[in-house]
Amino acid sequence: AQRREVDQLLAPLRLSRADLERVQALMRREMELGLGCQTNANASVRMLPTYVRSTPDGTERGEFLALDLGGTNFRVLVVRVAQDSIHIASEVYVIPTTIMQGPGEALFDHIIECIMDFQLKQDLMEHVLPLGFTFSFPCQQLGLDKAVLLSWTKGFSATGCVGQDVVQLLQEAAQRKQHLGLKVVAVVNDTVGTMMSCGYDDPNCEIGLIVGTGTNACYMEEMKNVGTVKGEQGRMCINMEWGAFGDNGCLDDIFTDFDRLVDKKTINAGKQRFEKLISGMYLGEIVRHILLALVEKQLLFRGKPCPKLQTKDIFPTKFLSTIEIPWAGDGDGDGGANGARGSDGLALRQVQAILQDLELQASFEDSMLVREVCQTVSTRAAHLCAAGLAAVVEKMRENRGLAQLAVTVGVDGTLYKMHPHFSQHLQHMLQELAPNCTVTFLQSEDGSGKGAALVAAVACRGTKP
Ligand code: BG6
Ligand code: GLC
Repeated sequence: AQRREVDQLLAPLRLSRADLERVQALMRREMELGLGCQTNANASVRMLPTYVRSTPDGTERGEFLALDLGGTNFRVLVVRVAQDSIHIASEVYVIPTTIMQGPGEALFDHIIECIMDFQLKQDLMEHVLPLGFTFSFPCQQLGLDKAVLLSWTKGFSATGCVGQDVVQLLQEAAQRKQHLGLKVVAVVNDTVGTMMSCGYDDPNCEIGLIVGTGTNACYMEEMKNVGTVKGEQGRMCINMEWGAFGDNGCLDDIFTDFDRLVDKKTINAGKQRFEKLISGMYLGEIVRHILLALVEKQLLFRGKPCPKLQTKDIFPTKFLSTIEIPWAGDGDGDGGANGARGSDGLALRQVQAILQDLELQASFEDSMLVREVCQTVSTRAAHLCAAGLAAVVEKMRENRGLAQLAVTVGVDGTLYKMHPHFSQHLQHMLQELAPNCTVTFLQSEDGSGKGAALVAAVACRGTKP
């Protein structure tokens, strides 16, 4: 009877193949709407032009500064692109929440201070290097070096920035700080930086994917399909901003009560609804709400109240990665029971240690159930990501009039990289949903700053005689 109740509670999170096909078709429809020339207020996927017209061809050269803002870490880098090697030196800086959510001037002042500290450490104070800025938020670009912030996402809310050109905000801050040598030549989204970075090693890499704090994708679209930019020739990289998929209500029947609870408690309720089903900033929260519901129904921890578990963000997504590490008994049909009780008690003990820190006394059955909840939530995330990506690769295949498409996806993000099963689930479901596409995944090793520098290199080439 308990089993039936658990299954009932988790059922809305278990998406069928037909559900995923529907999500794929909806994503495809939203892509077409977003690409169209009428600013269609009802398209939730913005399909933003990036002014990046090709992937790297190996002729990029020079020395560049790069900034990487919007993921777990803020980084300042110097990237030296030579004939057959790229050398990178970088430094990670902290952006305190008070700065993320305070006045915009303070955020950009802080960024300039970090650049100055980095230049000092690298002995680059006297140099005016062209700068590539990875800025991982939705921007309406009017060129490579003009990017108007449309909205903040992922917990940022610095005031006075939305509607402004972020290059100008950076330059104004540089003036305030008397940093006179700042020359921003390109702003890129992290998906674009990742695609370019991986594209340097694999010319087939024409898609960028991030599954980290947030989630998003970009890909090379035919110019003739981009209604929002003049010109018919060649291709342009489109920053989809797929995190906002569903903000117009088109995914409402996929959302569960748990998703609605998580959304309601964010600083951007009602926004980035697809992202809130998939990315690292939210999965732990979904799990926490499910665990609370299971306790309430007396299905977990013998129904004992769990005050600590009531705290927002106390169950970070990295817990899912640890809890889901395979147990020795997995895959032999006993649901892990033998392995966990026997030789692989270590994995079980890790789960129990996490729960103990939350002041939860977990029996073996409790630990198994917590693990099942984590698996359900992360598998749904991977499958939804696959449905989105299937829409992208199928569109690219049709664009090119091919029966079969071979394409590489450059990918980055803590969740994709650290979770023990996310990438397998994603790849497996993608193959099911887009059987005419052979998709290779290439993990970005150097972050998207390298890609921003490559875009900067092309931009500089364009301005020199
Ligand atoms: C990094 C990229 O490696 O991955 C960033 O350099 C990107 O540009 C990030 O935003 C995404 O992952 P996370 O987990 O840090 O949000
Ligand atoms: C959020 C941002 C988007 C970014 C993604 C991954 O969705 O809006 O620009 O690419 O997170 O970092």
